[in-house]
Amino acid sequence: MSRWRVACVGLGLVLAAGAARAQVPGPLIEQCAYCHGADGIARDAEVPHLAGQNERYLFNQMLAFKSGKRPHKEMRYLSRLMTTEEIGALAAYYASLPPR
Ligand code: HEC
Repeated sequence: MSRWRVACVGLGLVLAAGAARAQVPGPLIEQCAYCHGADGIARDAEVPHLAGQNERYLFNQMLAFKSGKRPHKEMRYLSRLMTTEEIGALAAYYASLPPR
């Protein structure tokens, strides 16, 4: 593989990552940040960290809150305002952040 090709592949990955992140609705993340931290690291001992957590796990937990299978007042309320696409984007976003 030529060096130019390597550079192209690298740029493609960066652009793809940027596009994936752009899909995450900013106002939603601000709401989550209040409890889970802007960096996905919660400041309150009663709130779980989300940064670096498994994407599939985060996605499943939010769907469980949405359906009521996992009971929690705030998370149920918030997850019901989100579409499955938004939940998927949020799960991918928090999974991509560095864990504590
Ligand atoms: C009012 C505070 C609050 C807000 C705002 C909030 N959360 Fe939570 N979240 C919690 C608490 C508390 C828990 C732990 C619930 C439990 O005890 O079962 C939790 C749990 C979770 C979990 C499960 C984590 C795990 O380790 O099982 C996910 C995923 C999650 N929240 C995502 C979000 C997202 C995404 C948002 C923004 C849309 C958000 N939360 C907004 C308080 C909040």
